[in-house]
Amino acid sequence: MGNFLWFCAELLFLLSLSQALETGQVKVVVPSSSMLAIKDSSIVLPCHLEPETSAAGMEVRWFKGSFTDFLYLHKNGKETVGSVYKGRVSLVHPDLEKGNVSLLLKDITASDEGIYTCHVSPGQYFDERSLNMLVRERVFECSHPVRLYLSVIVIPAVLALFCFWASLLYAQRKKQGTVSSDAVYWCTARPCNTRRLRSLF
Ligand SMILES: *[C@@H]1O[C@H](CO)[C@@H](O)[C@H](O)[C@H]1NC(C)=O
Repeated sequence: MGNFLWFCAELLFLLSLSQALETGQVKVVVPSSSMLAIKDSSIVLPCHLEPETSAAGMEVRWFKGSFTDFLYLHKNGKETVGSVYKGRVSLVHPDLEKGNVSLLLKDITASDEGIYTCHVSPGQYFDERSLNMLVRERVFECSHPVRLYLSVIVIPAVLALFCFWASLLYAQRKKQGTVSSDAVYWCTARPCNTRRLRSLF
């Protein structure tokens, strides 16, 4: 009986120890898929701590390529932005309290494409994860409200008006007898070159 109790106590001790080791270390989490940035716009490079832990007292470092060429560094309560990135970089959550150390990068250029690393260290250890960022040119976006309005309302309205005008014209000409069943002459320039445009009406 005594042996069994001792065994249980030992087991509990080992379990709690492994749990303490596991929860003691925070993990850095970034998206596994590539981020797509649009030239001249901004992007948030997501990075957070798990379990949710305040990063205020930690070293938070974002770098691209080499560890020392950082974009952003938070160390001993001080924020530093890499000289090349002045005015273009900031944390999305400046207080760091929620463990969200996502980075906001503005005025994206083609040369910003590459691998970015989010590095967090409370002191005794560190964890870091990298993510890939691609840069693309801005393309015609149909979802933009103004463009959507243009393509759904304005263009069909103009087409409808044109058809209405053309049919009125046709009816009028027919009444006057100037439309001899199939010939309509279309003047585009001077001297007037008469191009037949049967297909119009
Ligand atoms: C961190 O903040 C960014 C920007 O506000 C947000 O998009 C993201 O969802 C946040 N991440 C977490 C894990 O809360």
